[in-house]
Amino acid sequence: MFGREARKAGPQGGADALRLEAVGRTYGTEGNRVRALRGVSLVLPAGSFAAVMGPSGSGKSTLLQCAAGLDRPTEGRVFVGGAELAGRSEAELTRFRRGRVGFVFQDFNLLPTLTVLQNAVLPLKLARRRVDTAAATRMLTRVGLGDRLHRLPAELSGGQRQRAAIARALLAEPAVVFADEPTGALDLRSAREVLALLREGVRAHGRTVVMVTHDPVAAACADNVLFLADGALAGELRAPTAEAVAERMTRLADVVAARREAAGSAA
Ligand SMILES: Nc1ncnc2c1ncn2[C@@H]1O[C@H](COP(=O)(O)OP(=O)(O)OP(=O)(O)O)[C@@H](O)[C@H]1O
Ligand SMILES: [Mg+2]
Repeated sequence: MFGREARKAGPQGGADALRLEAVGRTYGTEGNRVRALRGVSLVLPAGSFAAVMGPSGSGKSTLLQCAAGLDRPTEGRVFVGGAELAGRSEAELTRFRRGRVGFVFQDFNLLPTLTVLQNAVLPLKLARRRVDTAAATRMLTRVGLGDRLHRLPAELSGGQRQRAAIARALLAEPAVVFADEPTGALDLRSAREVLALLREGVRAHGRTVVMVTHDPVAAACADNVLFLADGALAGELRAPTAEAVAERMTRLADVVAARREAAGSAA
């Protein structure tokens, strides 16, 4: 079900946008293992907005990459729009991502030799979809890059690069957007605009957004906040407020510190 039918499954369409069943990801080899994710199970309905929070190194980027088919979990199963990702070849996974998934990378991942506009329309080109330059220009203008269309990424500030990466992810109108700290490099006003854009996609197009953030105010824009600690889910907060998120993050840091101390004294 990687085709159009899966794409159409909106809020009433039935299929969950994203389902993880006991997903684990271990990096490295014998003697040098890092369990970046362990036993993560979650379900996100289509047309929902989830934030993922947790201390640095808690597995947030790994979670997003496994969920988006950019990385392969070492345990468990991932379903996007009802379709399982395991057992697909790299070529199939790439095709699948191009059709359904938008990804905003933590380090932006813009191609250095392409202009902002060329970067933004690249996913459409690669998917052999129609490139609507006017729509691309509108999207880039919306994120404040209307006067930077023909610049190279190296000529942009960090925040401008981040906004170009966001425009690129949204332009292909993906069913699911994974955004890894999409407002990390942005000033307050740009961050608000990006969050509004993400929210609008959820409301108007039934898009599903999964966003990693360290910012309680950004997390409060989501319907649901998932907390990660040491690669495992450590609770969630529905209908979050910035205050409640900040409070949970403080408690989470305490729990992680205590757990590490206990592990250290046991060793
Ligand atoms: N390619 C890799 N090889 C080995 N270890 C890795 C690799 N990628 C991540 N890790 C490890 O897995 C753990 C989780 O990393 P991850 O990047 O998912 O954390 P994160 O929550 O996104 O952190 P941050 O907030 O700093 O971005 C870390 O301990 C990290 O060192
Ligand atoms: Mg990360």
